[in-house]
Order: sequence, then C-alpha cells, then structure tokens
Amino acid sequence: MIPRRKFLTAIGGAATVAALPFGAPRRARSALSGVLAPVPLEMEQGVKTFRLRSRQVALPLLGADGPQSSLWLYADAPLPVIRVSRGEPVRIRFTNDLPTEHSSIHWHGIRVPNALDGVPYITQKPIQPGSGYVYEFTPPDAGTFFFHPHCNESGQVGQGLAGIFIVDGDTPAPFDDDIILAAKDWRLAPDGSFLPFTTIKGASRAGTFGTVRTVNGAASFARQVPASADLRLRLLNLDSTRVIEVGIEGAEAQVIAIDGNAVVPFPLDTWRLGPAMRLDLAVRSPAAGATFKLIDYGASELYDLAALTAEGAPMRTEPFSPPPLLASPIPAPDLAAAETQTYLFGAASDSIASFVDSLDPDDPLSAVILDSLCTGDETFWSINTLSWPHDGHEKLPPPLARLKAGKSYRFVLQNGTPHPHPIHLHGHTFTVLSSSRRPLPLHQADTVLVAPKERVEIAFVARSGDWMFHCHILEHLETGMMGYLRIA
Ligand code: C2O
Ligand code: CU
Repeated sequence: MIPRRKFLTAIGGAATVAALPFGAPRRARSALSGVLAPVPLEMEQGVKTFRLRSRQVALPLLGADGPQSSLWLYADAPLPVIRVSRGEPVRIRFTNDLPTEHSSIHWHGIRVPNALDGVPYITQKPIQPGSGYVYEFTPPDAGTFFFHPHCNESGQVGQGLAGIFIVDGDTPAPFDDDIILAAKDWRLAPDGSFLPFTTIKGASRAGTFGTVRTVNGAASFARQVPASADLRLRLLNLDSTRVIEVGIEGAEAQVIAIDGNAVVPFPLDTWRLGPAMRLDLAVRSPAAGATFKLIDYGASELYDLAALTAEGAPMRTEPFSPPPLLASPIPAPDLAAAETQTYLFGAASDSIASFVDSLDPDDPLSAVILDSLCTGDETFWSINTLSWPHDGHEKLPPPLARLKAGKSYRFVLQNGTPHPHPIHLHGHTFTVLSSSRRPLPLHQADTVLVAPKERVEIAFVARSGDWMFHCHILEHLETGMMGYLRIA
C-alpha cells in the first residue's frame, strides 16, 4: 500500500523520497533574506482587500548557489504578512492554484464567525484546485496571529503554506521598531527535494522534525536595530513539530503578549512555545555596536533565533519599563458558574489502524477510500479515548462535547502521553488558569502547551458553532488527536 502522503507527493512531482539519516538534522543555509513581504493592500468599496493564491514556487531554500526546492506558498516568498487594524473589516480573496489538492484557510487565533473558520467539510466546502473563496470578517482582537490550510496540514504547511496576520491597535505608545520572527523548519534532502512530511516513527512519538531550521526563511536571522530603543519582537512558532524554548542574551526583555493577547508584562526567563504558539516581547536594545540574541535553549544544539545588532544614536534614556498593551474585548469566563469538563490526551486504541491495514492495496476502491481521507493513514492518538477517524471530515464523527453558547466552561486538559502537546481550540481565546506542574502567569491564549503528566486548566465563554479542538503538532492531529465541540 502506498501511504497517502507519498502518493500525493508522487502525483505532485514535488518530493522524492531520498534516504537521509534521521535524528541528526544538519544546519543547512537558507538563501532567503529574512525579510517577510507584505501582501499588497487593495481597496474594494472601502474594504481592505488582500489576495492570496496558493501555488507552486521554486526557491533555493538551501542556499543561493544550492538546488531549487519546490515550495507551496501563498505568495512569491514564504510567510506573506497581512496587516490590518482591530475592528476594521478585511476581505481576503483566496485562489487555490495547488496542482492536485483542495485547500482552505484557517485564521488561527482570530475570533472569526464559525462560517469563516476555514475547516473543510465542517465550516465550508473544500476549495478545489482552480477555484477560489472570499473570506470577509472584522478581527475583534489586536495581536499576532497567523493563517494556514486545514487539510493535509503536514503536507501543505510542510511545503510552505502559512502566513502572518497582524492586527494593530494594542499599543498605548508606539515602539521604536516592530519585528516579526517566524520560526519554521523544512524537511529537505541535500538535493533540495522534500523528505516525507510524516513518518510513522515521528507521528507516533514527538513528530517528524525538519532538517533545516529557519526564521523568516533565513537559516540565521540577523539585522540591525536602533540603539537603546524599545523594540517589539513578535515570535511565532510556525513549525509543524518543534517546541521552542526561547530566552534572550545581551538585552532585557519583558513578555507583553501571549498568542497575541496582552499580559501584565513580566521579565522573560525562558518560555516554551509549541507549534502555533506566539510570544510578543518588549526589548530595550543595547548601546550601538552591541548584539543581542534570542536563543532556542530547547534544541539539542543551541539555535540562535535572531541576532540583532544595535546601531545609531540612542533612542531612549528613561529606564526600561514597557507599558502593558491594550487588552482585547475577550469575554471573561464566570469561574463560579463554570461547568468543569476533563479532556484526556492519550494514545489510540488500534481499531482504525487495523481497518486501514485491512484494505487491499490492489483494490481500486481502497485507493478511493484512502484518497478521500483528509487525515493520515495511521491512528496513534485520542482525546477522551476518541480518535479522529480515517474517513475524513466528510463523514463527521460525533462531537467530543455539546456545549451551550454564552455559558462558561472550565476544561481540565490532562496529558496521558510521554510527549508534549500544544492544544488549540478554534474560535475562542481562553484563560489559562493553572498548571499542576509549573507556576504560570494568568494569561489568555488560543493554544496551550501541556507537558507529559501535566494538567492544565483553562476557562472560556462558549461561542456558537462547530469548533475544532486539537493538538497542533500536525502529525498528531492527523493521527487521531483532534475533535470538535458543538456549541449551540
Ligand atoms: Cu492552527 Cu486547527 O489550527
Ligand atoms: Cu500532540
């Protein structure tokens, strides 16, 4: 049997299955400059409009003199940036020009109406190659968000489909610079072709890691910043798999937002970001000539996420004390009245895996069944013992729970596996109340990392719709750790 993912890449002609020893990612050089391009703004009857087109683009991701890699991107370069203001309507005209696959766009962390949430079969029809879709909504909250497809995620995101979505309107006083740092690994063979995005070994454990680390597409991100200035750094973990543990050397940083949501500023020691998680920092840059670094201390080999060198005349002389960002209008859960529910993130029973294994690979019907699957070929994970089934989004499993719109809920998220899981709830910004294993500042988030043996409590006011609830390690959601809440 050909695993579906390999089958698709074979059709697309985009990847070859090169043999490379796993587990020892080499540090390769990326040719991309580290400057993210904005999506051009157009006005249509007074509405800010942006065009995104998913397409195949060849770029020398391994170095200017290196081989071309066949990426799937929304623009000519990876990670285009849409920038709007809070409370202002925005229209996105999306065209799917992928060679073979349907797609959709999910606006991660943005509290859009359910119909615009971008989940094929659940909130909209899949967008077939050659056709388009118009998303139109008014972002209610300011902050650092992103967008990505919600089908064959390890493949489509793995090959490059993702973008940054910044909503302005949360700064009481302007920063001297505002820098986006989007971390993403790529699974490339030395010849520039993509390695399989998912492996059984990875999907059933911590995930399949990339071979090339980048920030904004660059293998080592470096730039100049104004000296003795107050900078806003927006760090996004857009990797499919990797948990980053960010710290700073050579400057002082305060955490000012988590997943785009304002927090009472606190000094950055280190902070763990699972896939999809974001962290906004205020940093007082050093004197001219000095360099400070953001470092990932979580990797086996320390990795510099960014090296920023101060230059020019000092911008500020007053002591560093960034004011809190302006809070977004997120409804506060009523903890006294909240209903408590427990969700266990665990391993799967093997029934679905054996169903897939039972399919006769030579029977044309098997190929049709496998090809209709929006998720992976194997099931390793579950939420409350239920695994997202292999018959795709088309035939929906029952919801994990039915909740009442407008009511407050307290969820206890319990990790029953030996791997960390960044748990994401669509359509909601929840309050992270506590962890059983570590002190956590009270904060709001759309994705929370739950470590092995950890119990994390979150609370939120339910919004009506069918909202996906899943781990954001893409291979985990594709192999069972996904469900949805039906809220009415
Ligand atoms: Cu970024 Cu279903 O999520
Ligand atoms: Cu997971």
